[in-house]
Amino acid sequence: MQIAKSREELSLITQQWNAEKLEWAFVPTMGALHNGHLTLVHEALKHFPRVVVSVFVNPTQFDRADDLSNYPRQPEKDAALLREVGAHALFLPSVDVMYPDGTDKDRMPDLAGLDTKYEGAARPGHFEGVVQIVRRLVEAVYPKAMFMGQKDAQQVAVLKRAALQEFWPLEIHAVATVRESSGLAMSSRNSQLSQEGLTKAATISRVLAKAEKEWKSGKTPRKIEKNGQETLLSAGFKPEYFDFIDATTFDPLPDLPSAQQGIEKPLIVTVAWLEGVRLIDNWPLY
Ligand code: PAF
Repeated sequence: MQIAKSREELSLITQQWNAEKLEWAFVPTMGALHNGHLTLVHEALKHFPRVVVSVFVNPTQFDRADDLSNYPRQPEKDAALLREVGAHALFLPSVDVMYPDGTDKDRMPDLAGLDTKYEGAARPGHFEGVVQIVRRLVEAVYPKAMFMGQKDAQQVAVLKRAALQEFWPLEIHAVATVRESSGLAMSSRNSQLSQEGLTKAATISRVLAKAEKEWKSGKTPRKIEKNGQETLLSAGFKPEYFDFIDATTFDPLPDLPSAQQGIEKPLIVTVAWLEGVRLIDNWPLY
């Protein structure tokens, strides 16, 4: 695996692939890699002969300085994991490489309000930072396709919309959330939980699975949302939201049973706090 720390080093690698007529896919990450990320690399390798992974903790998408400074960083371990899984190149830029003119927010494409709901409302400026860095990474890597986790469903929706608006010549593949055997969605943030917290955090996926059953049995969203919030609360979480939405627009579903919805991609999204850690998960109903 080759490691590039600058755009120039990276472009030497991709120029070579271009000369060999090899297409490459891209997996953007913030490092602290776990099996969820490695699954994205596996998926990308199934479809493309070359895969580039970036590891960059992007300061412009954090709304809290302590969250940015506490974010786990382990570049050597990440490089070893990527080498093992068969990635071909690791792009490991510094903040100065990605933001040579400072970290002011760039011009934003029209995101049709997707960036101001849910995660956008909870973390002001977050999606602006994500679009800003992904635009810069895509311009540096220039991949044919990008592989991302469905766990951050709103990020996927925002980036698909941004890609269309910006005419990035890019396919975006969303890969199903990878879960621990307990059902807990894999996340770099899980490492901030105690052993007891890790066990308890699996409740979130059980509540989501139960909500799907209720939905299939004809219960309507508002009732199921209320049940979900109450179960999380009584299990010791601080739920922030537990909502049925349309995965394309992130608008709430009307309070109708599933048979009467006519929405192509209904999704349950949730955030709940445990031991001061903000846990995010979602459950596709399509
Ligand atoms: O999902 C992430 O880890 C980040 O938001 C991304 C896409 C790498 C941009 O920094």
